[in-house]
Amino acid sequence: MTANNRIVSGMRPTGPLHLGHYFGVLDNWVELHKDHQCFFFVADWHALTTEYADPTRIKGFVPGLVQDWVAAGLDPARCVMFQQSEVKEHAELSLLLSMITPVSWLERNPTYKDVRDQLDEAKDLSTFGFLGYPVLMASDILIYRPKWVPVGQDQLPHLELTREIARRANHLWGDFFPEPEAKLTRAPKLPGLDGRKMSKSYGNAISLGEDLDGVRAKIKPMLTCTKRVRLKDPGEPDECNLYPYHLLFTPQEKCLEIAKACREASIGCGECKKIMGDNLTAFLEPFQERRKAFDANPDLAWDILRDGNDRARAAARQVIGELREKLNFNF
Ligand code: TRP
Repeated sequence: MTANNRIVSGMRPTGPLHLGHYFGVLDNWVELHKDHQCFFFVADWHALTTEYADPTRIKGFVPGLVQDWVAAGLDPARCVMFQQSEVKEHAELSLLLSMITPVSWLERNPTYKDVRDQLDEAKDLSTFGFLGYPVLMASDILIYRPKWVPVGQDQLPHLELTREIARRANHLWGDFFPEPEAKLTRAPKLPGLDGRKMSKSYGNAISLGEDLDGVRAKIKPMLTCTKRVRLKDPGEPDECNLYPYHLLFTPQEKCLEIAKACREASIGCGECKKIMGDNLTAFLEPFQERRKAFDANPDLAWDILRDGNDRARAAARQVIGELREKLNFNF
């Protein structure tokens, strides 16, 4: 078994990433890839579990995801960025693990139930593939035998299932898979522009690639604190939609100053938004800068993936080869 500092994680290519994704998980990837061996992949087969009726759209989101990763600070030279469906060994392991995974484990998975109920009106998710989502995810992970899996909070039930499947495989087939552990980001949650969870479908998100004038225009109409009806009414930063943004983008000392001024009604919401907007756009500027490489070379994202696919495939083949030996499926 490889006891190591390996990291594996993936994202589904279903649209541009926004600040919620960044602070929910991507900042963690960026930190971790500096001193761990990381495998990050585009989970296109997982996108297919919900987009199966129109699979042709998925391809369009694949290079965009790689661009968002690089824009956010992931260096393709320091990690393996690849595409799930290009490493067929994930599917082979998924098939093998499906043999030992009780259906009842899948049916009681809370993420499964949540997503199915949320999307059920628009899509029929009573499919074998959707029920088996966590088995494929377990395979994505276990095939690299990592130590850590950096994911958002919502993925924890899936990761617990991965660990249970690993344990069952080890029990039935003999020790083979180390049990991977979740790694959550330490960043505070960033709400959407309207205070609800940030989500593309709520229209309350700032995407990582958004142009900076667009970002400012979105900040202007943000609701702040309902206590501040008039300029002279004192506000309460802890009840304000804008203040969590200050906590992330404005230096701590300035945050304290602003909070005090808000409670004393000596700063207006307009000015407060302007300060936050300046800091947020300054934060996003390097993202825009790194994205330029892709404008100059439209094939770059695919080139990065091609290189990563080869490296991931080599690692995955090794483990599948060992597993076949173990199962006496080495014909
Ligand atoms: N389920 C994850 C999500 O929706 C994506 C994913 C697929 C994943 N396979 C994975 C994440 C393996 C981590 C490890 O975000």
